[in-house]
Amino acid sequence: MVGLGPRKPPSRKGSMADVPKDLMQEIKRLEELFTVDKAKLKQITDHFINELAKGLSVEGGSIPMNPTWCMSFPTGDEQGTFLALDMGGTNLRVCEIILTDQKSEFDIIQSKYRMPEELKTGDADELWEYIADCLQQFIESHHADTKLEKLHLGFTFSYPATQDYIDHGVLQRWTKGFDIDGVEGHNVVPMFEAAIAKRGVPIKLTALINDTTGTLIASAYTDTKMKIGCIFGTGCNAAYMENCGSIPKLAHMNLPPDTPMAINCEWGAFDNEHKVLPRTPYDIIVDKDSPRPGQQAFEKMIAGLYLGEIFRLVLVDLHDNKDVHIFEGQNIDKLRKAYTLDSSFLSLVEEDPFENLSETGDLFQNKLGITATHPELELIRRLAELIGTRAARLSACGVAAIAKKKNYKTCHVGADGSVFNKYPHFKQRGAVALREILDWPAKKNPKEEDPIEILAAEDGSGVGAALIAALTLKRVKEGNMAGILHPENFRG
Ligand code: GLC
Repeated sequence: MVGLGPRKPPSRKGSMADVPKDLMQEIKRLEELFTVDKAKLKQITDHFINELAKGLSVEGGSIPMNPTWCMSFPTGDEQGTFLALDMGGTNLRVCEIILTDQKSEFDIIQSKYRMPEELKTGDADELWEYIADCLQQFIESHHADTKLEKLHLGFTFSYPATQDYIDHGVLQRWTKGFDIDGVEGHNVVPMFEAAIAKRGVPIKLTALINDTTGTLIASAYTDTKMKIGCIFGTGCNAAYMENCGSIPKLAHMNLPPDTPMAINCEWGAFDNEHKVLPRTPYDIIVDKDSPRPGQQAFEKMIAGLYLGEIFRLVLVDLHDNKDVHIFEGQNIDKLRKAYTLDSSFLSLVEEDPFENLSETGDLFQNKLGITATHPELELIRRLAELIGTRAARLSACGVAAIAKKKNYKTCHVGADGSVFNKYPHFKQRGAVALREILDWPAKKNPKEEDPIEILAAEDGSGVGAALIAALTLKRVKEGNMAGILHPENFRG
């Protein structure tokens, strides 16, 4: 994708000429804290490869490496009408997807519902009731006159879940700031089904999936070179296709060793034991003040939910504690509010095209009531670049680790999520880091593809969920009942 799209405006040169010495020193300190050099990237990647294998072992490790019971890539010939429900981090989305008789083609209708903020820390019943209401509304508005028999649904539940079956999933722990009592440690499918049954909606859950698995399968539907699916959004994670023979923790199932099994890595949990990631004091505060301290160490340095918070914590520290005292004499109460800046704020800072950073100045004025001097604006810009660059470079370690583990010398990686799609330079910075980690020779011409390209994915939680439902129905029909809890739901 790098290099495609509308031509970018010429980049800003920027000048630090009027930045006083003490502020310059702070910038230097931040550069040291947030820069991850090539050697460190390689060290992280090597550790990552070991941790991927550990997650697949019987003893397990900190990366969950969840088998998903999605057991094949699509061929492009899948057909049928499916519902998809996506419970991500920010929105709830309901879709109806028609996989048409044209190869790799689909039609989709969808409705989006905002996830009310209070639901994320509310109680479980309210969550399931809200979800069921949205589904019911969708069915009523799109199928008001039709008597429906049974609709097969793919439910994208983008949190770590242990799946003994594809129509089952025990929530391991909430991530992405969710904190709803009574769900962790329980199978979410019956909770969901109970709320649906109350409303008499004719829906059968066919597959519970993760957004990354959906992304992998949806992308492979239109591009057979796709081998890894990634989300760089509110959270950060990836899925890829493993062979059952390389999953010791599934050995008791006696599946043929070359049978494929999509693995939802849940790599956000990489290095929870803090062995290799170069965490800064700010990352430590983000973790400590989160609803699940000690969890999602990797995700907390990369994902959209946290980038703005890291940035905010640095600025507050530079105001309160360091000799430079940025924003001196000003009221920074708005900036003191946790999670007041999201990653789109950082994107805007990085996108400011003006030499004098006037757009950044306006942002600070309008959103935070802070008047920043020009030297302070230069520091702000550099800080945003450092945080954004670190996130992109660290994510490349995960991609490189999977590619190395699977010995993929060339492939495509399908990526989705707000950070990947909207954060300036994220793709290009990730591509540079991949090149460093994998020691690719310089390109002969700029148009040449990289051996491993991270590309914009197809819609995983819509089309991907429908495809996984279709693939599961097909294999059940063929008699492959591995990882199916309720075969009766798959008939008819
Ligand atoms: C978090 C979730 C994971 C999801 C990712 C992206 O890491 O735990 O399941 O795939 O966010 O949404």
